[in-house]
Amino acid sequence: MSDVEAQKRAVGEAAAALVEAGMVVGLGTGSTAVWFVKALGARGLEVTCVATSLATADLAASLGLKVAELGETREIDLTVDGADEIGPGLGLIKGAGGALLREKLVWEASRRCVVIADASKRVPVLGGFPLPIEVVAFGHRTTALRICDALAECDIGAAPRLRLRNGQPVRTDGGNLIYDAPCGRIEDPAALAAALKSVTGVVEHGLFLDLADEALVATPEGVLRLEP
Ligand code: A5P
Repeated sequence: MSDVEAQKRAVGEAAAALVEAGMVVGLGTGSTAVWFVKALGARGLEVTCVATSLATADLAASLGLKVAELGETREIDLTVDGADEIGPGLGLIKGAGGALLREKLVWEASRRCVVIADASKRVPVLGGFPLPIEVVAFGHRTTALRICDALAECDIGAAPRLRLRNGQPVRTDGGNLIYDAPCGRIEDPAALAAALKSVTGVVEHGLFLDLADEALVATPEGVLRLEP
């Protein structure tokens, strides 16, 4: 196993140790969250899980975890999920896996959110990782132009790129498309978040601000616990 994979496993296991029997648990998406879900499955606790993607729901069910839809359970006690970047105040960029909409819905419905990541995800300023923006398919090229305007309002000159796989537009679990915006530096994430939300056709963006209650970040020396 590579060092990075071992770090992802370490934070996944550390986060699984936070779960108690009887909890409603939000399950993230991505390669780090997979380690959390596997470690949670291995604990054999009676919990109810709400998954942030079909892939995670399938994994959880295959491990014998009980999976419910968002809104079918009482409030989610704890959600654990990965991130593409962890910036100041635990502001995050998420969505490389395309699950940003379901992730944000689950995070916002949770009492406590813990982000787990290897050390490479920590950055002094958000924006080095292209920002995922989920849009409805109808009129998406027009929406992309308006996204450019919203970025420009925030002094970001990035041209958003439609996410493709094997030459075809990637569809999210909700049937939407994703544009990735290589912002570079996001000096004011809250202003950018507001500008993007004001564009009709934008379903959600990958800026997760004021949502993470703590981070577990793996380093070669061990797991660091960070607060906003
Ligand atoms: C999924 O849409 C993402 O938000 C992931 O949580 C994020 O990309 C982190 O994934 P990795 O743990 O695979 O880096």
